[in-house]
Parts: sequence; C-alpha cells; structure tokens
Amino acid sequence: MAILVTGGTGYIGSHTVVDLLNHDYDVVIVDNFVNSKPEVLNRITRITGKTPRFYEVDVCDEAKLEEVFKKENITDIIHFAGLKSVAESVAKPQLYIDNNIGSSKVLLRLMTKYHVHNIVFSSSATVYGVPDHVPLKESDKVGGCTNPYGQTKLDIEYLLKDYAKEHNDANIAILRYFNPIGAHSSGLIGEDPQGIPNNLMPYITQVAVGKRDHLNVYGSDYNTPDGTGVRDYIHVVDLARGHLFALRKLESKPGLVIYNLGTGKGTSVLDLVRAFEKANDIKINYVICDRRPGDIDENYADCHKAWEEMGFKTEFDIVDACRDSWHWQKNNPNGYGD
Ligand code: WQD
Repeated sequence: MAILVTGGTGYIGSHTVVDLLNHDYDVVIVDNFVNSKPEVLNRITRITGKTPRFYEVDVCDEAKLEEVFKKENITDIIHFAGLKSVAESVAKPQLYIDNNIGSSKVLLRLMTKYHVHNIVFSSSATVYGVPDHVPLKESDKVGGCTNPYGQTKLDIEYLLKDYAKEHNDANIAILRYFNPIGAHSSGLIGEDPQGIPNNLMPYITQVAVGKRDHLNVYGSDYNTPDGTGVRDYIHVVDLARGHLFALRKLESKPGLVIYNLGTGKGTSVLDLVRAFEKANDIKINYVICDRRPGDIDENYADCHKAWEEMGFKTEFDIVDACRDSWHWQKNNPNGYGD
C-alpha cells in the first residue's frame, strides 16, 4: 500500500512526504536530485523519525522506474517531479517538453501496466495564462500560457484528461498551485533554489541573510493597488496538507477532479516585503525596476471548490510564511549546502 512520490526531495515534495509520514502513510520516493540534495532525506528523518524508501531514479528512465513498480506495491502516485524554472523554460523549451511531458507519459504507461489507479498531479496556476478576471475558478479559461513551463503543465493536464477517458477506473486529482512560500516550522527543510532565485520569497530571504544586496522589484506600473505584481501566496505546509486531502478524495473514486490550492487572497510584492520586515524585524532593501518579461498583473485563487469537495482550506497566512521562510534561511544560509 505504498504512495509513490516522484520528486519527493524537492521543496513541495519534501514537505508533503513529511506530512504523509506523520500520518503513517507508507512512502516511496523517486528523485534524481536535479533540483534537490540527498541531505533532504536526512532532514525528513530528523523531523519524522521515519525513513521513507528511496530510489535515485530519473522518472524519464522507464526501465529503472519499472524496477520500482516491480519491487513496491504502489497504490497511489503523487507526481511532483519536473523542471520548474520559468526563465529556464523560455531558454530551453524542448528540455521542458521532453522532461516534464516525457516523464508523465512514462508514469501513465507504468500505471496502466501495474494497475495503479490513483494519481495526484502537481499543476500550476500558470495554466490560466493571462487571466481577464480574478479570483480564478477551476472552470475558468486555461491556455495562453506565458512560458513553456506553464504550457507543459497544461499539456500534462490534457494527457491526464485523455487518460481518464480511456481508463474508467482511474482517479486523478489535478492540483493547481498558486505561489508556494514558507517552510516547515522546524527550520530543517525549505526552499533551496540553485543559483540566483527566480521566485520572490527566496530572493527576499537571501537579501535578509546578506547573500544578496537588495531585491529587484519587477515593475511598479501594474494595474494593482500599489502597482506591483499581485499573487496568491500559499504556505507550503498548507499546500502539502492539500495533497493528503486529495489522496483521501481519490478513495471515493471521483474520476478526474481539479482543485485550486491557494488562500483566496491577493498579496502584492511590496505587501510581502512589508509583511516579511514586520514579522522578522528586518529591513529589506529594494529597487524598483522594469517589468520582468512574461509576468502578469495579478492572479489569485477562488478556493471554494477545494473546501466544498475536499474540506480543504489553508490555515496559515503570509505572516506565518514570512516567519517560517526566515527561520529556514537563517538556520541554513547556504540551503542544504553542497
Ligand atoms: C511573484 C511576483 C514578480 C522575483 C512562478 C510560476 C509558478 C510557480 C511560482 C514554480 C511577481 C515579483 C519576483 C523578484 C520580483 N512556479 N518578483 N522580484 O512568477 O508568480 O510564479 O513561480 O514553482 O507556477 O509561474 O512567482 O515568485 O517569480 O514572482 O519583483 O526577484 O514577484 O514580478 O510579481 P510567479 P515569482
């Protein structure tokens, strides 16, 4: 009765594995460490007192991944594994297509062969493209993605919808994350981007810890209250918990379901900077710069469906996330190290 977690040593994957283990699930992780470190496994054990079975496997390597399906009695899959840099996807679109879509096709073939019926897929709010209104509902238009990373997430959603039409015993939860931030309260696991952070919160924490001189605020002329970009920042521990709600939902054999995972609140860049400064009594120097290509004015979630159909809603707010992100970064100034 094992839960196979692909990408389980990543930022969201590791937080989800901690919650699964704390709820006595039998967890098997596959990861190739393309965007994470083996040290994460030690941290998971330090937090939970448990050691999930681990296989260093690239999910695109069908033969090696099949060995895991042969060895383990997999009943459910949570599929995090994938490349996730918006900027890198613009520079290397084929790499993102081959890796993100290719790995998902491998998983679906092995699911069929080994009669695994349940899968939770890590999708993204980027599938909504440039929204013409907010908050966003799951029934809103998707497409017009502003980068190849987001397009791969949408293409995989279409793959899953086709799979569900062909396999009436498949139960599939597509979770559209908004903007994950924060860290586990222990400060032992957190976001550890390689190189210069693309995302806002890790950049803020690297300024706070003295690794970066200042934050570049990309644009102050958006159609938002203070002119800076507005997003829906969800605490990663809430996001992880949402995956357990999705696993429980699949037990009721719903077929294919789609849920936004967000807070339902919009927060601007400057709002987040001020919340971080107040929560941690730290000054964050910033410079207003030009817009970043591909950025949108605002997006945030309508979260009613996750509440009505799974009973899920977030428990933490951005102040909690600012406090927990700083606790992680302060204790791990170089992330998980080399
Ligand atoms: C948020 C806001 C920036 C950095 C992307 C993906 C999403 C998910 C999260 C993978 C925007 C501004 C940022 C900086 C800034 N992907 N910003 N200075 O672009 O909303 O979402 O990352 O995990 O699927 O689409 O997140 O954190 O990059 O940007 O001013 O140094 O912060 O302009 O308004 P984004 P982000």
